[in-house]
This record gives sequence, C-alpha cells and structure tokens, in this order.
Amino acid sequence: MDKVVLIVFVTPLLLFFILFYRRITWLRLIKSKHMKNQLPLGTLGWPFVGETIEFISCAYSDHPESFMDKRRNMYGKVFKSHIFGSPTIVSTDAEVNKFILQSDAKAFVPSYPKSLTELMGKSSILLINGSLQRRIHGLVGAFFKSQQLKVQITREMQNYVQQSMTNWKEDQPVYIQDETKNIAFQVLVKALISLDPGEEMELLKKHFQEFMSGLMSLPINLPGTKLHQSLQAKKKMVKLMLRTIESRRECGISKVPKDVVDVLLNDQNDRLTDELIADNMIDMMIPGEDSVPVLMTLAVKYLSECPTALQQLREENVKLKKLKDQLGEPLNWSDYLSLPFTQTVITETLRIGNVIIGVMRKAMKDVEIKGYFIPKGWCVLAYFRSIHLDDKNYDKPYQFNPWRWQDKDTSTCNFTPFGGGQRLCPGLDLARLEASIFLHHLVTQFRWYAEEDTIVNFPTVRMKRRMPILVRRVES
Ligand code: HEM
Repeated sequence: MDKVVLIVFVTPLLLFFILFYRRITWLRLIKSKHMKNQLPLGTLGWPFVGETIEFISCAYSDHPESFMDKRRNMYGKVFKSHIFGSPTIVSTDAEVNKFILQSDAKAFVPSYPKSLTELMGKSSILLINGSLQRRIHGLVGAFFKSQQLKVQITREMQNYVQQSMTNWKEDQPVYIQDETKNIAFQVLVKALISLDPGEEMELLKKHFQEFMSGLMSLPINLPGTKLHQSLQAKKKMVKLMLRTIESRRECGISKVPKDVVDVLLNDQNDRLTDELIADNMIDMMIPGEDSVPVLMTLAVKYLSECPTALQQLREENVKLKKLKDQLGEPLNWSDYLSLPFTQTVITETLRIGNVIIGVMRKAMKDVEIKGYFIPKGWCVLAYFRSIHLDDKNYDKPYQFNPWRWQDKDTSTCNFTPFGGGQRLCPGLDLARLEASIFLHHLVTQFRWYAEEDTIVNFPTVRMKRRMPILVRRVES
C-alpha cells in the first residue's frame, strides 16, 4: 500500500515541484531584458538546494577543487550554479576575477551567506560599500602600514612568540595551530584596542571563540541554535568594546594613535559611531584568530614535508640572527621582511594553502565580462583556489616549491590570496610580518618532527589534529 501511495501521489508531486522550480528559474532568466546575452553554461541543480550539497561535500574532501574542475571541464572557466541559496556565477578565470575585484559598488557589492552577514552586522567593513568603506579601509590600511605600528607589532610579536615557546616541552606534542592562534590573537587585539594579556583578554577570547563557531551555521536565530549563541557572544564583546571606547573618550583621545580604536575615534566623520567602531573591532579580530594562524600553521606543515626548503630557511634565518647578535641589536621589522627565501616560503604557502578560497559578490546591474553575462541580482563567486592550483599558471601546482617565486612577480592576477582592488586586504603586510617572525623563532630555536595530520578545507581551512609536532631545542 505504501509503495502505491508513493508511486501514485508522491512521485508526480515531486516531479511537479522539480519542473515548476526549473520553469520559474527559466522564466526569470527569460524575463531578463538581455536575452541576447547568454548566461554562462552550467546547471542550477536541484530545487531549493541547487548544487550546495555537492559543493560542500567536495569542499570537505581532500580535493576541494573537484567541484570546480568537473564544471570547468564541462562548461569552461566561468559557469553558472546555485549554491548557498542563490543562483551564482562561479568564476575560476583570473581576468574575470580581476575585473570583479576592481569593480565598485555600482557593479558588485559583497554578499555572503545569511548567518555570516547577521553575525558581522550591517556596518561591518566586510559588507559596507561606498565612501564609508573607503574611509575605514584607508584609515585602517594606513595605520597597519605605519612604521610605528610595525615597530610595536615586531616587539610584541617577539615577546608573545618567546613566551609561548618557552613553555614548549620536549616530551609533549606542541599543537602549532593552537599556539599560533593564541599568539596572533594577542597581537591583533593589542593593535586594535591595546589590550594586554590577562583576565579581560581571556574573557574576550572565550566570547570570540563562541562567536566564531556560528559563522557558517544554519541561519536560524532561535534560543539554543548556534547562530543565537554566537550573536549573544557578539553582544557581550560589543559591550566590552563600548566600555573601552567610553573610557578613551573620558581620558581624551591621543592625537598620536596607538591603536585602531584611536585611529577611528580621531576621525571627524559623523558616520563613524561608537557602535560601528565596536562592531568593526570584533570583525577585524577574525583574521587574527583565523587567517594569520592558519598561514603560520600551513607553513610549518609544508616545511615539515620539504626538508630542502626547511634547511634553506633555517640557514637564512640563523645567518641573520648571528649577525644581529654580533651587532648586539634586536631584529626589526624590515630585517624580517628582507629575508628573501623566508618571503618565498610565505608566498608559496599562501598560493598552495588558499587560506581564503575566494570572495563573494552580488551583481547590482547586468554586467558583461569577457563575453560572460552576469544578470543583476545574481551572486558571483570569484574563486581563487582553482587559479592558484592551475597547471597553466604554475608548474606542478600541488607541489610546495618556494623557489618558483625567486624570479617571479607576485603582483599578477594569477595570485590573489589577499584579494584586490578597493577591498585589497589592509592587513597583508601585517600577516606576512607575523608569519616571518614566527618562522624565524621556530627554525632558529628548534628541530621538530611533525605527527601525521591532514588539512580540512571547509568551512575554513584548518588542520584536523591541530598540527602536533614534537620539538627539540637547538643552539643556533
Ligand atoms: C593570511 C592572512 C590574511 C588573508 C589570507 C586575508 C585575506 C583577505 C582577503 C582575500 C580580503 C578581501 C575580501 C573581499 O574582497 O571581500 C581581505 C579583506 C580584509 N582583511 Fe584580510 N587577510 C589576512 C589577514 C588580515 C589581517 C591580519 C587583518 C588585520 C586586521 C585583515 C583585515 C582585513 C580587512 C579589514 C578586510 C576588509 C577590507 C575591505 O573590505 O575594505 N586581514 N583579507
């Protein structure tokens, strides 16, 4: 009987929904006044879920670009799909991505899954557009590039790294991912709000971890859900930030800014309200907790698997350390950034590791790029990973090969780990500096053996076992 019900009622109903859905989508496309403009090839997949399930299952696998590779082979480098609830044009073409990154808000605006946008809030720099985004970007970028901050970061990073490494024991595994998270969070919080390690920092870290755990959750904000818990954690952090801002205002804001809060409070723009500043301080902690530590962790992983690169890195760093010891000087930020092989190691880690796989945008008008038509209202995923791992751009792309950068320019559209255009990451120098300092102290003080571990690529890149290594102290 059950089978009969299934065949007679459920199957036709299901078929009806599928056809209805496809028809609606098709009609929407026909309605587009540019019917002469052909949408890129591709399929919108299943009703409602589109191709999201296949996208996520590939993203979780050890070959995340298999979703893209399959479609690139069938449809070309730019294709249509339906992921995370929206019809989406996926671009794995470097020139198309460059155009998208360089476009302003008249053509494309940032667009991310709902749980992410709810958590970041409407005023987050990652989501706002126009003059306010440019203003905050300019202020933050200039501060992160300033000599004064680089001097401060170098000093603090060295202290935090040294404190962390002093506690490493030779008979217990050191979890590089945890150590780097801890260090990078302390560095960034200091640069943002001048908070030193202590009870308040620990509380902030606890709330922040809760906040992060909901970033890619289901977009349901009800008591008990992940998203709800994350929003509660964010509220507590905003309160903490507002208290900091208030006490700054009471004591008088320093004209020579010592952190990002000072920089933003000093600006006369009325739209830079205390709430907006507080919200953005929290959003800017995301790279501190996530992207920078992942960069450092992956560098350790790739070096552990490539002894010749590790040897060359060690020689370069030991040589500089000895020179500085002889001169009786500490290393400064330009010393770190002037180590050529260390920089190629970081560049190669960014290429192969793809800490940020791509960026998402929404088309504000019909756009045509290189003959590909993107209709108004559609999402666009400018996917960097496929370009960084394309054998047309990089010989043996899955091989960690820092030497490939020795005579190669990094400012090409085939290499965009920090995005580009108006939203080019303002923290890129800082990220490189932090990674250089960490690697310097690691290779000049330790030899290590890396235990078995694998990279997980979704929802964010991380190591499955938090990258355990067994260390041995050495005299350099
Ligand atoms: C390995 C480390 C990092 C990577 C791979 C990375 C990558 C990126 C990428 C790809 C974007 C562009 C987003 C878009 O176009 O929508 C971006 C933007 C941004 N990054 Fe980073 N980032 C890193 C470290 C940092 C650090 C240390 C900071 C310091 C706070 C930072 C702050 C920002 C901010 C504020 C934006 C938004 C810029 C805007 O939309 O105007 N990032 N980052």
